[in-house]
Amino acid sequence: MRIEKKEIDKQYGYMHRISSLIGEGKKVYALTFGCQQNEADSERLIGMAKEMGYSVTNEKDEADLIIINTCAIREHAEKKALSITGQCKHLKAKNPSLIIAICGCMVTQKHRAEAIKHSYPYVDILFDTSMVYRFPEILYTRITKQKRQFALDPESKGNIPEGLPQHRENPFKAWLSVMYGCNNFCTYCIVPYVRGRERSRLKEDILREAKELVSKGYKEITLLGQNVNSYGKDLDEDYDFSDLLKDICAIEGDFIIRFMTSHPKDATHKLIDTMASEEKIAKHFHLPLQAGSNRVLDKMNRKYTREKYLSLVGYMREKMPDIGLTTDIIVGFPTETEEEFEETLDILKAVGFDNIYSFIYSPRKGTPAAEMEGQIPDDVKGERFQRLLDTQNEISITRNRTYEQKPTKVLVEGWSKTDKTMLTGRNEKNRLVHFKGGESLIGSFVNVMITEAETYSLFGELI
Ligand code: 5AD
Ligand code: SF4
Repeated sequence: MRIEKKEIDKQYGYMHRISSLIGEGKKVYALTFGCQQNEADSERLIGMAKEMGYSVTNEKDEADLIIINTCAIREHAEKKALSITGQCKHLKAKNPSLIIAICGCMVTQKHRAEAIKHSYPYVDILFDTSMVYRFPEILYTRITKQKRQFALDPESKGNIPEGLPQHRENPFKAWLSVMYGCNNFCTYCIVPYVRGRERSRLKEDILREAKELVSKGYKEITLLGQNVNSYGKDLDEDYDFSDLLKDICAIEGDFIIRFMTSHPKDATHKLIDTMASEEKIAKHFHLPLQAGSNRVLDKMNRKYTREKYLSLVGYMREKMPDIGLTTDIIVGFPTETEEEFEETLDILKAVGFDNIYSFIYSPRKGTPAAEMEGQIPDDVKGERFQRLLDTQNEISITRNRTYEQKPTKVLVEGWSKTDKTMLTGRNEKNRLVHFKGGESLIGSFVNVMITEAETYSLFGELI
């Protein structure tokens, strides 16, 4: 499972050979779709490309190497990735030495890989999620043999690569993968098929990386895994996610910890107690609910009920009364009735989430739900989706108003995209906060007095 050090060393060998082959001045452009796990993978791919001598560009047109890291969670994400891949054709016509590499979850599905092989002949390299660490070798073979390379292993259950270089996009916020893969097989979800089985990194490796991040001045570390609450279940030691959190909190320094994603069936009181007692853990819990009806939850294979979910939320609020709560919701799961959809609206109101990430159900080839009878027509899904958004918007604004006239601690991320005179950042509860201030505050924690709340963000003044 864990890739041996000698194999990683071999990949460093390829990186250095490529660097002498390509010389100076070559540029890499990377585009990432999907979740934070994919972003972390892209950071590793760019890290390796830099080690090979490439410098990073944000302009596709001037790239010598294009990496498209794809997502498969919904059809929309796949269509976008395919459309961008299509646009690369004219870039290749202009620059025949351009190398185009497509990787990630979409490519890990056999039918998609086959389609790209045949319909996009200008794509040079295809590799799946288990081959990220072998990117240098694959690229080296492509360059020296002048032949397209397909590194696709349908049997792969995934692996753990340690010691790869990582190009961190943000100088004060870092992703830290603690585990990979998923064993849950929710019936709508493609992830277990494209990311393999759950596997945890060794705690020593995680703690070493966390210490390094803190010593380099990172202010926010987000622990990543498809299901972080199962961390450690596959290891020999009696050591779980709460233990890991405690050990990371014990690292000296001024930083906060976030984590995602959690599954309600594995979220324990021990974890909630740890959150409540550790100052460094941000008081924000993202806990995907997916649906409010027990029958739908059962058909989704989620292994909890709405009552269990509500009781978890109750316990969190008992321990941390002002905790920020967010969730994921799917509308239009096969056979979902109008009444069952209304149960979702009801639970949103009962919990009062700060924000939700809502999705229209998208059938994924090879998953059980895609084969279920009773698929919901698009117009019904669309109409439910709109009602879901309307309901949540009202809840969000009410929740956001509770911040008014109160101070909140914010990690300043940069200038606001919509108003260049405003700084923007997120508070501990993960709410977006805008306020006036100077460039020098970017990357540090500040206190902001909230003066006004809107549906998606808060406005305030620096204290
Ligand atoms: N259709 C719609 N949404 C999906 N998600 C996962 N699979 C699907 C699908 N087939 C959503 C879930 C998950 C989030 C990351 O994406 O809500 O929590
Ligand atoms: Fe998909 Fe369910 Fe695993 Fe989340 S827990 S990645 S929704 S299968």
